[in-house]
Amino acid sequence: MSRLEGKVAYVTGAASGIGFACAQRFAAEGAIVIGSDINTTDAWASVEQSAKAAEFHSLDVRDADAQKQIVDDAVARYGTVDILVTAAGVAGGGPVHLIPVAEWQRVQDINLTGTFLSAKAVLPHMITQRGGSIITVASVEGLEGCEGGSTYNASKGGVVLLTKNIANDYGRLGIRANSICPGFIDTPLFRSVYSSEATAEVREATRKQHKLGRFGRAEEIAGAAFFLASDDSSFVTGVALPVDGGYTAGHSYGIAERMGLA
Ligand code: NAI
Repeated sequence: MSRLEGKVAYVTGAASGIGFACAQRFAAEGAIVIGSDINTTDAWASVEQSAKAAEFHSLDVRDADAQKQIVDDAVARYGTVDILVTAAGVAGGGPVHLIPVAEWQRVQDINLTGTFLSAKAVLPHMITQRGGSIITVASVEGLEGCEGGSTYNASKGGVVLLTKNIANDYGRLGIRANSICPGFIDTPLFRSVYSSEATAEVREATRKQHKLGRFGRAEEIAGAAFFLASDDSSFVTGVALPVDGGYTAGHSYGIAERMGLA
């Protein structure tokens, strides 16, 4: 379990859910892990215990200077930055005519501009190194529309295309860029939207759209991130990879159940 030995990974949104699971997995695989988040977490101690070296920094991904400083410092200390995972993000949505402009802007700023700023912080170093793997966390909702998605889906669709453009621009320098498009993953963000009684029916309908019949786990996204970070994916770039239990495989209308396949 040391296939990221000698690699330095910068992970945003590292205090919780998918980002935290990526930090844990990368640490277990031998990487030096630099985490950032607007919140802190006591659980980061477990990353520090298993990593060769690990740092956690409080910042807002909308702060370009703070992200640049953390990455520059990491490169000064460890000599390189090889992997970026952009997991900082917020939920959002609603019908367009009811969404305040400020709320639209907040979601774009964190989910899309925050991702842009993270990439902007690591790219000068990756250009110098002539190598690196950028992994953005988009969503199945960045691949297709859904009722009530609006702000969130627009931001995640932007992340998918931003990532493909990075793959286009920097591939010749040995820099790969891919998005992971998770289905619904049982994390604090997911629970903030789907834990109330009022959303029980929608939650169940959503679960059924996952052809494996369940929601995902953060570790399952970290597994895909590990693949994209490692040399096993050395010929993979510009991909938007659904890790979604079959959510985007097709629409579910209950026919499989009627055929006795449930
Ligand atoms: P989470 O809420 O557990 O983790 C997100 C982290 O981002 C939190 O620790 C939060 O403090 C941090 N964050 C939020 N705003 C920030 C800011 N302005 N600056 C710095 N950090 C900030 O949520 P989860 O589920 O782990 O989400 C991670 C990413 O995965 C998000 O981008 C989310 O949109 C995406 N995603 C999640 C899915 C799910 O079902 N949980 C499905 C598809 C995508």
